[in-house]
Amino acid sequence: MQIITLGIVMFLFLLGGCSTDEAAPGSTPSSNHRHDSSADGGTTSETKPAATLWGAPELTDENPDPDVVEVHLTAAKGRATLDGKEIDVLAYNGSVPGPILRAKQHQTVIVHFTNQLAEPTTVHWHGLRISEAMDGSPVIQTPVPPGGTFTYSFMVPDAGSFWYHPHVNTYAQLARGLYGAIVVEGAPDPAYDLERSLILDDVLFDADGNISPPTLDGLVPLTGRVGKVLLTNGKAAARAKASATKGKVERWRIVNSANARTMRLLLEGAKGRLIGADGGLFTAPVPLPERLVLPVGGRVEIEVSYDTAGTARLVNAVPTSSVEEKTTMLEVAVADGPAPRTIAWPTITPAVAERPAVDDFDISFDYQQGSSITWTVNGESNPKEPLFTVAKGATVKITLSNASAVMDHPFHLHGQFFRVNDPAWPGLRDTVLVPAAKPIEIIAYLDNPGMWMAHCHILEHAEVGMMAHIMVLGDGDTMGH
Ligand code: C2O
Ligand code: CU
Repeated sequence: MQIITLGIVMFLFLLGGCSTDEAAPGSTPSSNHRHDSSADGGTTSETKPAATLWGAPELTDENPDPDVVEVHLTAAKGRATLDGKEIDVLAYNGSVPGPILRAKQHQTVIVHFTNQLAEPTTVHWHGLRISEAMDGSPVIQTPVPPGGTFTYSFMVPDAGSFWYHPHVNTYAQLARGLYGAIVVEGAPDPAYDLERSLILDDVLFDADGNISPPTLDGLVPLTGRVGKVLLTNGKAAARAKASATKGKVERWRIVNSANARTMRLLLEGAKGRLIGADGGLFTAPVPLPERLVLPVGGRVEIEVSYDTAGTARLVNAVPTSSVEEKTTMLEVAVADGPAPRTIAWPTITPAVAERPAVDDFDISFDYQQGSSITWTVNGESNPKEPLFTVAKGATVKITLSNASAVMDHPFHLHGQFFRVNDPAWPGLRDTVLVPAAKPIEIIAYLDNPGMWMAHCHILEHAEVGMMAHIMVLGDGDTMGH
């Protein structure tokens, strides 16, 4: 069994999937495998082929229909090398992160999912504005039992960077390795030399070097499980290496899949612009802030221009009481090359146009310390009734606040996008960090009918109460049901 699993992992590795390889310095970086193998052009189409994607294996589209992407995805126990030692993990199709689901905007995606875990699970397609029945919410979908299957089928409405993960026992299943990136290509997409998919995570190892058994004991429900080793694409960040050439310009799609750790990113040795976030590309790039805050669950996209040869780095800077603790998440060796170039920005139409709010709601978070710690949403732990009900198409202002200013909370709303009334959060979002000390206002565009989860993405917080819903009525529904 183990040999078979290892065989699959090796197979994926040989396919060129392992992004952050541990090969000796000087060997061919795996980043180029896909590039080489696709150099013959692939499909003919009047549009320029999408940029080569670097970062993880990709799910293979088994359906020849150009409007359909049909794939198989299995969650199972597996073995992976996260930090130099092979350990037990849970994995999608045998790899951590799971394979990238890549589609074009408006394609129909069919995922034949098999649960080979010892416990029920679902798959949530974080950020995709699809129907509630396909969203993986255990309130809507009966979780897939061990040995069971489920076919997820949906049209991907928006271009951008999304991700998938379980939504049952999430704090434990995700921490053990179940997560993967979703890339939805749009038209027009800016013409980059290369795209990199980077999933940032952290992991806590026990004394034997295995993943610490996920727990809700002690202070974990308060702090969330914060890992000591940072991971980039499933490898210890220190092992995440790539290469590039001066003059090239890349698009980095970055996901924070940690249980609890907010990333604060900066780019060194290259020029960067912030070009997109949860809900897709911006209408115009904006300068990279000094520290780019990426809450768990959230995504950012940055443009990286190698204007000088040398070493470029993506760095996570953790504030400590004295100095910042910096960890390199990806190191890129930049060879000498031609003069820098600039990418022309295409006309991007945002997925949702700005429109004024017609209604106001408050969502406030708090915690209670009884025999154990619980978190509450509007005073209630795990409220069963929706926080509010509106008709499809409603635009609402939601004030998110922390009654007890102990922690920042990454608030995530399923199935919808919102804008944040704060220039620090440009673009459309589905996740925003609600600072401990001050409320934040969002304008939510509730265009997708259904019962939608609204929760803290610190997975332990969600598990002990910070999990609520909102209701968006469809055309046939009536208020007050
Ligand atoms: Cu990333 Cu409720 O999910
Ligand atoms: Cu929280």
